[in-house]
Amino acid sequence: MSHDYAAILEQIADHVATEDFGDARKADYIPALSDVPDDHFAMVICGTDGQEFTIGQADQSFSIQSISKMFALVLAQRAHGDQLWQAVRREPSGSAFNSLILLEQENGIPRNPFINAGAIRVADLITSRYANPDRSVAEFLGQLCGNPDIRVDNTVYLSEDQHGDRNRAIAYLMKSFGKLDNPVEDVVRAYFKQCSVAMTAREMARASFFLANKGIGIDGLTVIAPEETRRINALMLTCGMYDGVGDFAFTVGIPAKSGVGGGIIGIVPGEFSVCVWSPRLDGRGNSAAGIRALEMLIRAIGRSVF
Ligand code: DON
Repeated sequence: MSHDYAAILEQIADHVATEDFGDARKADYIPALSDVPDDHFAMVICGTDGQEFTIGQADQSFSIQSISKMFALVLAQRAHGDQLWQAVRREPSGSAFNSLILLEQENGIPRNPFINAGAIRVADLITSRYANPDRSVAEFLGQLCGNPDIRVDNTVYLSEDQHGDRNRAIAYLMKSFGKLDNPVEDVVRAYFKQCSVAMTAREMARASFFLANKGIGIDGLTVIAPEETRRINALMLTCGMYDGVGDFAFTVGIPAKSGVGGGIIGIVPGEFSVCVWSPRLDGRGNSAAGIRALEMLIRAIGRSVF
């Protein structure tokens, strides 16, 4: 790692502590997510040379939410291979992550695996093939980051379940088109549980490391093949930040995946994985301080994927 990442992280943390992020606020449509203090901030970089740099509350758990969709996609890809792409497409949606509009217009086939519709369909594919679909994403994350204790936060899960009407509507709409294989309740339970996994920024940066390291995880074992890694990074670049993806590519320019818990993972292929966490979200459901932090990091090192 050829830059002074420790100094860069300090500058970033100092900056985001003073920037006024205007209207940014925590997700409250899942009430359990609004309990986190507004000013929490963590950033962790895992270099492909084995170095790790952290700042802030790097060891405090947060709700990974939609970041889980990337890991669920890897599991579904392992089980179904390229047939997966008959169930979900690979195009950015240009609409909100929980929108139903395109799903109705496009006969129940989700635009991509990272909007809620696509992730629910991916959870359906996992439900068909894995013995314990409610725990498979948490277990996979535990293996990837080297902490077998990674768990679903039950309070968040119950909150998601109780406020899950919109996700159920999405699942029923797909079911009505004959595009969901398992019962809606089984699928949304697996989906809510994967979103409710709690992890620290350090664990999340480690779990994402294989995407920066040609498919090889922090333990040196192959997670997926290098060409699969490229494809997942491409999908994150084009679909990982929802309808903010164009702006994010313009200002930051790396594959990334966000969640409404305020976490974002980012990948600089060949160099490092990064996880940033700060709970206040912009209008598109992405961490406002997290986006600024990634923008500052990429500017400081002068290297995006472009
Ligand atoms: O289903 C939901 O709405 C949440 N469990 C996940 C949404 C999410 O994280 C979108 N991210 N920006």
